[in-house]
Amino acid sequence: EGWDVTLADVDESAIELCRQNLDRNGLDGEVAHRNVNALLHESVFDVVDIDPFGSPIPFADAAFANTRDLVCVTATDTAPLCGAHFHSGVRKYSAVPRNTDYHAEMGVRILLSALARTAARYDAGVTPVLTHATNHYVRTYLELEHSASDANAAIDELGHVYHCEDCLYRESDPGLIADPIDACPECGSERVLAAGPLWLGPTHEADFAAAVREELDDSMGTASRAERLLSSLEAELHEPTHYDQHRLCKEWGRAASGMDEFLERLRDAGFAASRTHYGGTTFKTTATVAEIREATRHS
Ligand SMILES: C[S@@+](CC[C@H](N)C(=O)[O-])C[C@H]1O[C@@H](n2cnc3c(N)ncnc32)[C@H](O)[C@@H]1O
Ligand SMILES: [Zn+2]
Repeated sequence: EGWDVTLADVDESAIELCRQNLDRNGLDGEVAHRNVNALLHESVFDVVDIDPFGSPIPFADAAFANTRDLVCVTATDTAPLCGAHFHSGVRKYSAVPRNTDYHAEMGVRILLSALARTAARYDAGVTPVLTHATNHYVRTYLELEHSASDANAAIDELGHVYHCEDCLYRESDPGLIADPIDACPECGSERVLAAGPLWLGPTHEADFAAAVREELDDSMGTASRAERLLSSLEAELHEPTHYDQHRLCKEWGRAASGMDEFLERLRDAGFAASRTHYGGTTFKTTATVAEIREATRHS
């Protein structure tokens, strides 16, 4: 397609595998046996894909310093990201992650927050065109615009989430200055968690997910899985946190119902509702917990 490709790794055996894989696929490409941070500071690339073991943060500054168009990032350190390893998450991502029932989405939004703040240091604004949390890792694709106002616009997407551990009420609060609530406005509980700064903006673009889906073909080993993931993302609402129907029904002492029927009840009551890619019983909606409870009471 006319793209020049460079593969970089510090490990000699990984470099040998890079060479073998290029040969096996009849592709040209430069193979660099060196520290990718040094390479990224010296050279300018259109697209950079960072796929380290664990956190991508040690590579984030170098990735955003010079890249022109797209930075793709994998993070496998889901326990720090979702707040299960709290202090490690705080140290790595300069944010407060919290362990909630939407832990994978917490990880997505903590990661995007840290990446957006890193890019902003280089006057670059990020737009996530595709992000997913699957198989215990988070993967995101960030389109870059290079101006201070684009960086400001990305920072404007950050904010906090306040979450009641008792009734699962949550609210999001835009801005870098947190204003946590002392008690849950729904049930009065003081067991309210505050998380952030999180990326509160969209984590994908439906058109982009659809365009990628159009490019799939059956010769790709994971085509059917990719098809399911992309279709799910295409329809997923942009609300900053998702719910799990089973978790809510357990809380309410109710039997769970079919997802389609459950979502239909919400739509009939005038709320937007969608499934999410985070799990088979997860959904997003514009309704609050109390509104969900009321709207789905007879499902
Ligand atoms: C998860 S693996 C990459 C797998 C590869 N993307 C694939 O799909 O087969 C992470 C790699 O990062 C390499 N690595 C770690 N630190 C590095 C650094 N500073 N510069 C370049 N490569 C590094 C490791 O040697 C390891 O091979
Ligand atoms: Zn509550």
